[in-house]
Formats: sequence, structure tokens, C-alpha cells
Amino acid sequence: MKPIKVGLLGIGTVGAGTFNVLQRNQEDIRRRAGRGIEITMVAARNLEKARGIVGAGVEVVGDPFAVVDHPDIDIVVELIGGYELPHALVLKAIANGKHVVTANKALLALHGNEIFAAAQEKGVMVAFEAAVAGGVPIIKALREGLTANRIESVAGIINGTTNFILSEMREKGLDFATALQQAQELGYAEADPTFDIEGVDAAHKLTIMSAIAFGIPVQFDKAYIEGISQLQARDISYAEQLGYRIKLLGITRRTHTESGEGIELRVHPTLIPAGRLIANVEGAMNAVLVQADAVGASLYYGKGAGSEPTASAVIADLVDVTRLATVDPYCRVPHLAFQPNEMTDVAIVPMAEITTSYYLRVYVKDQLGVMADLTRILADAGISIDAVLQKEPGDQVNLDIILLTHQTREKNIIAAIEKIEKLPAVIGKVTRIRLETLA
Ligand code: HSE
Repeated sequence: MKPIKVGLLGIGTVGAGTFNVLQRNQEDIRRRAGRGIEITMVAARNLEKARGIVGAGVEVVGDPFAVVDHPDIDIVVELIGGYELPHALVLKAIANGKHVVTANKALLALHGNEIFAAAQEKGVMVAFEAAVAGGVPIIKALREGLTANRIESVAGIINGTTNFILSEMREKGLDFATALQQAQELGYAEADPTFDIEGVDAAHKLTIMSAIAFGIPVQFDKAYIEGISQLQARDISYAEQLGYRIKLLGITRRTHTESGEGIELRVHPTLIPAGRLIANVEGAMNAVLVQADAVGASLYYGKGAGSEPTASAVIADLVDVTRLATVDPYCRVPHLAFQPNEMTDVAIVPMAEITTSYYLRVYVKDQLGVMADLTRILADAGISIDAVLQKEPGDQVNLDIILLTHQTREKNIIAAIEKIEKLPAVIGKVTRIRLETLA
């Protein structure tokens, strides 16, 4: 059988990794896919650099639409990143009847519903294993490996940059700015690291996993997003003294509110018991914990970024597309795991309605009765206290009082915090970090 022809849009870190791994393992990949997979065309901004990577046998062009419109290309691999240009390119590739492989989580989190509908209409595949957790095959696991299950929750460390920063802050007692600078020097964080540190990149990935886990449309606009830029080293240290680690977690799960069934979709710093496997994922590694009714808990761990780890996922998609290209489109694995006409409209619940536990740090003047006032406000709000720690943060005058609560609705804790901040002995704002036992 003739090799399947692939056009690459972008040949940066992941593109070069894809080219190299395909070359290196081409014989095994051919034996697995049933036919060869050949990159025959590459679109790149820097033509000379691209030619240096792919050599003379591959056509290198400056215009990505030349790849998307080329009649010989069977699969377009989109590795450009960003929103607008990839959006136009992917829709054009689909309209031209080409299959698409993409690592672009931002694109799918924002435009996934439109892209999958267009692909469905045209009978082509859009594969995106590399978009979530890089080399970790979590999309395949959720969509295929766990297909027997009712999935209850997905909780993941899905941004390596922030996990590296949090590890450095905990292990070396660094503040956020210093740890971020180290991440940038080591090439983990982008020069503009906003998407990483403010949780946007993790929310893109979580949105995609949520759709696949629960059979709902991608709804990035409904995700609650809070990053790690406001985290203080002392909270990481206090959490550790109480037996917890702080991680930037993406959490999506089934829940019940006063108005019925819903789905939580949230990214924020989270205390996790230090003994949990996922709490021990350090450095730039990724991990995703899935709770499902038949299999129970399963954990997926590995490199969430980097040239060849991400290429591993891109090529797995290329092999899937190659194997299934001749199959009747109705017999293929649906893009979002559930058949397109079987999606549900279970609502994403507003953040005020989610239920979780909390770490509260209250900075107070060391006055008689302040602890009693705090506990009374929480008791009046029906919030039960799990642990209390009192620390003298170094100024010799005031105190940090740290309280861990049992589960309550977010709106209850917000109301209690408002009252706490009005107490005369309380200085400034209460620090509030959510806590998940992940039991
Ligand atoms: N910037 C991402 C991370 C990698 O730090 O995990 C690509 O999604």
C-alpha cells in the first residue's frame, strides 16, 4: 500500500520531534499502521531552518494554506499554536476532505464544537492526543480505554510549568517570582508565561477532558480559572506542616446542586493530602487521576511537554488516522467519545455552587477572643473545622491562624470570609485555597 502523505504546519520543537521520531522508528510505525507514514510537505516561517531539519526530500513552503490545499496531502498536522490562523487552516483542511491532527488545546477548547461538527459533516477525523498532557495518552484512555465506565471525576496536574514552580517553592522555600524566573531560565515557561501561571493552559486541557469524560460540548467559557501567581511561600509551608501539598489542579466532576445534576469545571491551586500519589508528582511532570465506577481510580503520569514526548502523541494520532482512514466514518471512534447525537446538555455549575473543603489563613492581631470569633463565624455558617494551626510569621506582633474546613459550598465560605474580614482584629484579606482529599 502507498504511504499516507502528511503535511506539517509548523516545525518548531514538536514538529521537529515528530519528523525525527517518524524517521527513526519508521519501520516499526509502518508495521503498526499497515502502511508507511511520510511527511512530504512542511509549512514554516523560517524556510532555511525547516530545510535544515527535514532535508532535501520534503517540500518546504512559507504559506500554510499551500499545504492545506495541496491535493496530495491526506493528513494535515497543525502545530502552529494560537487561535486565529490555526482555526482558519483546520477548517480549510476539513473542507478539503483532509484528516487533521493537532496539538492545539487553545483551538479545541474555544472552537472544538465547530471543528468537530465540520469534521463530522465531511467524514474526516480530527485527532488531538497531543493537546492534553503531551506524551501521556489520556485522551485515548478517557475516550477508549475507559469506555465501559461512568466517569465520575477527572483531576489533573496538566501544566508542567506551574508544577515545576510549585515544586521549587516547596522544596527550596523560594517565592513565586524567583521560582518563575528559574522556570524561564530552564526553558519551561514561555517568555510571556501568563497562560501557564494564570491557569489558562490547564483550563484549555481540562475543558477538552471534561467534554470527553461526560459527553458534553467543550465549554471553556464556563471554566473557573485561578492561577498560582498569588500563592505565597508561607502557605505552601503551612500546608506541608498540616500534611498537604499545593498543586495547580484541573478538576471536572459530576455534582449535585440545589437545581439538579451538574458538572464542575475548575482550575485552581489545591491542597492535596501529601500521601496521595498525585501529590508526589514533582517538577514539570503531568498526571491525571480518573475516578470511574467500574475501574475505580486510575492514574496517568508522564511528560506533558517537550519535543519527543509530544511527538509521541502526534504520531500515535497519525497511526490511528492511517489505520481508520478507509473505515466508514460512522464506525470510527467519535471525536469526543460519545456519538455526536448523544451529547447531553448537563450544565456546568457556577463556582458558588461547588462543594469542597478549604484552607483559610487569617492574619490577625494577637488579641483575646480572636480565635473564638473566627470559629463562631464558621459555626454560624454551618462550616465544620477539621484542623487549626497558629503561627507567628516573623513580625513578632501578629499571628497567622490557619484553619482547614470540612466540605461546604463555595458560597458559604465566601459569606463567612466576608464576615471574618470585618473583624477588628483581622488584618487584610483572608487567604483561601481549596482542598481536595481525592479519596
Ligand atoms: N506550557 C505547557 C506546560 C506545555 O507547561 O505544561 C504545553 O501545553
